[in-house]
Amino acid sequence: MKLKTVYICNSCQYESSKWIGQCPECNTWNSFAEDVINVGKPEKGSISRTPRSAKAGARSPTSLELSGQTKTIRLLSDIEEFDRVIGDGIVPGSMILLSGEPGIGKSTLTLQVANNLAKKIKVLLVSGEESVEQIAGRAGRLKLNEKNLLALNEYNLETILETIDAEKPGLIIIDSIQVISSMDFPGSAGSITQVRYCTERLLEVAKTTNTPVILIGHVTKDGTLAGPKVLEHLVDTVLLFEGDRFQQFRLLRANKNRFGPCSEVGIFEMTEDGLTEIKNPSQQFLEGRKQNAIGSAITVAMEGTRPFLVEVQALASTSSFGFPKRTANGFDLNRLQILIAVLEKYAKFNLQNQDVFINVVGGIKLSEPAADLAVLMAIASSYLKKPLPQTSAIFGEVGLSGELRKVIHHEKRLKEAEKLGFKDIVSPATHKEIQTALRNLN
Ligand code: TYD
Ligand code: MG
Repeated sequence: MKLKTVYICNSCQYESSKWIGQCPECNTWNSFAEDVINVGKPEKGSISRTPRSAKAGARSPTSLELSGQTKTIRLLSDIEEFDRVIGDGIVPGSMILLSGEPGIGKSTLTLQVANNLAKKIKVLLVSGEESVEQIAGRAGRLKLNEKNLLALNEYNLETILETIDAEKPGLIIIDSIQVISSMDFPGSAGSITQVRYCTERLLEVAKTTNTPVILIGHVTKDGTLAGPKVLEHLVDTVLLFEGDRFQQFRLLRANKNRFGPCSEVGIFEMTEDGLTEIKNPSQQFLEGRKQNAIGSAITVAMEGTRPFLVEVQALASTSSFGFPKRTANGFDLNRLQILIAVLEKYAKFNLQNQDVFINVVGGIKLSEPAADLAVLMAIASSYLKKPLPQTSAIFGEVGLSGELRKVIHHEKRLKEAEKLGFKDIVSPATHKEIQTALRNLN
């Protein structure tokens, strides 16, 4: 093995022989990290690809008509919100990366999933971050004590691989991939080389023994995985666990999934007894809502295929400085500026001397344009000091010329609102619907 130090861009994988401040390929600043690569001949049994033989020979591809008949049995954790996001259970031999900010609840979620699965199979939970006593302490608090749930405090890759070989678990959990390191390479745990090499070796185990592996990975503040992006390419599924650490709600989404849809979202609440599933998010998010509150509007948001009702609050107050402040929590600030401009130009509101604050209740982030109309009406309600009707649910996109546009999943949103007693729906209709309504009038 012949090792060479190179510098690799964290965002686009551009390789340079020396450290540079800005990537010439993707223009990102400060993205280069030291990496060690093997430039020697691949050794026997090494993971690098061996050169293709001249006499490779042909293989016969399988017809999809036949291969579709065998159905893989997936492992169900019986934590519905988790199983649904992953695509109806864990596929044997798959590698899942669960990423999220420190303290969001990754270890808690995997411990709960592991305990449930340990009722059916042997689960090996390898933690390089916490001692067995710490894991046992948390498990005890959450009343999780399955016999087949085995914990190990280890960060050496070779020891972990040997243990897997000896124990033959049905599910392997690594908490976290950034603290595991191999003796084969220099460089500390968390470096690009270590993270990539350890992932590749574990992937090999997953594929050859048909054992699923869950890797926990930390993300940095800007949302990228600490360590190389390459991890996302290697694994089958990337799950992102997010939410505001100071709010109780947590969202689990699939960013990539080779075995299921990417649109599903699981909603959890962090309580004293660990993470509890939220099966009826609308009711949860509307809890504690004040009657006839000024500046409050209810919108119907979609997370994946599921609609739920959320409260948007706005506060417009006279600014004491010349320059009015606009602040948004859970809503895009640029979109808020547009909505304020629309209100000023088309509804003739004078918001020049008003500070406008937006808050989406429950720490939820509204990223769809469908929330526009509710935000706009919440601002109007606060500015005019009049509450919106208690039973109104509002959704629709607001365009730059003040027009309203229909949003996707219109019917689903309508049904969810009606189910919870929101009878006054404020949402744009399509041109066709308006024509039909007019025809019926005549
Ligand atoms: P943890 O799962 O350790 O987060 P991560 O692995 O993503 O870093 O848990 C994070 C926080 O959750 C921790 O600060 C305490 C809190 N917590 C609860 O509120 N209730 C609980 O039952 C548990 C286990 C943790
Ligand atoms: Mg943890």
